[in-house]
Amino acid sequence: MPDIAFDHQDPAFVTDPYPVLRRLQETAPVFWSERMGAWLVTRHADVRAAFRDPRLSSDRIRPFVAQLQPAMKELVLPLGENLALWSVFNDPPQHTRLRALMGKAFTSRAVEALRPRVAAIVDELLDAIERRGGEFDYHREFAYPLPATVIADMLGVPRTDVDKLKKWSDDLAQFVLTSRANPEKYRRAAAGMAEMTDYFDRFIRGRTEEGGGNDVTTALLAARERDDRLAHAEIVATALLLLFAGHETTTQLIANGLYWLLRNPVTLADLRAHLDDQRYVENAVEEMLRFDGPSLSMVRVAAQDFEWHGQRIGKGERVFLFMSAANRDPRVFAEPDRLDLRRANAGEHLTFGYGIHFCIGAPLARLEGQVAFPRVLRRFPNLALADANPPWSDSILTRGMLEMRLRI
Ligand code: HEM
Repeated sequence: MPDIAFDHQDPAFVTDPYPVLRRLQETAPVFWSERMGAWLVTRHADVRAAFRDPRLSSDRIRPFVAQLQPAMKELVLPLGENLALWSVFNDPPQHTRLRALMGKAFTSRAVEALRPRVAAIVDELLDAIERRGGEFDYHREFAYPLPATVIADMLGVPRTDVDKLKKWSDDLAQFVLTSRANPEKYRRAAAGMAEMTDYFDRFIRGRTEEGGGNDVTTALLAARERDDRLAHAEIVATALLLLFAGHETTTQLIANGLYWLLRNPVTLADLRAHLDDQRYVENAVEEMLRFDGPSLSMVRVAAQDFEWHGQRIGKGERVFLFMSAANRDPRVFAEPDRLDLRRANAGEHLTFGYGIHFCIGAPLARLEGQVAFPRVLRRFPNLALADANPPWSDSILTRGMLEMRLRI
């Protein structure tokens, strides 16, 4: 095994993971990281194949909870039970069932119908930024509230509850998205999950009694009634999953994308010249998803022993699929480290995963990007970074900034 000092918490990796990932890709495509106690997979073809490989299981919550110390286990058990009902943490046949029912509620028609609403939310947020003027945190004032408000609207949750839900969801992220064990974080995650479950439990019961509205929650309830298959706890869990999966990732698409545009003035000028060209804008969003999208990696657990690129993967070992590395694989993308909004195969990125778990929210995330970027750029012709080196999150799963200060 080549001697690559892989430290995902090294500040240089946190700021720019791509050089180290490229070295892994070239010299050790299936790499055992002592520090993470896990395998890392970095080539495009391998990551894509892994997403479709039944030897790599998505059922990663149950084994994780099972190996905890008794005191910790007791603390996170209710949390684990809810997460175990999330489609994303299940294999077939349980996944197939949850996904099919979710698909009935989360249709492309429901998403497309949101376009005018998304535009209105974008404009409201930009109005507020423009009124205040000067310097602002794009993350806090735009990239976060946009997807959070959109998904709340889509679920039928009152906008006034968005901040509360965001806080619980952030607490939960400490469990789902970080790899470091820390009792305090687990305690907060468990409390956040309990509050969110309680909230959605009441909300969904209310929807059932009122006969519902024109939203995804009502559609989930209807899907259950028709097929008599989604239990109340599963509906609560699915609503939580949609809320959770639906905002932080999209926040990062909207922030990372703008960050790299502002750092590439020629590319930005080309986009500014094509804001009315829907196809150009669609491709630009795909390239932003590829170039430095929200997905650093995704985890699987080996369901059996097997050999891969000369390595022996043991049953129960974790395998991190680095979509970020795959998205810069020179075997697939010419000049992968260049942001090229006209790139013909930008859409081959793996940012939304691949195979049976392919992101069900991809059409919504794309729509938000396609609506947001042109409106932001039109509104602020002189937008500039106030801090050229913003702080990046040290999560191993997601790639995003903690804040992004801009000047209008
Ligand atoms: C740019 C934004 C987004 C990115 C990068 C992203 C990324 C992903 C990825 C990589 C997966 C696959 C997980 C796996 O294979 O284990 C996934 C699944 C999922 N995403 Fe997204 N997502 C985004 C936005 C959204 C939105 C807006 C929603 C919903 C409103 C959403 C809902 C889901 C759900 C429910 C799943 C699970 C699907 C399943 O288990 O079959 N995502 N997402």
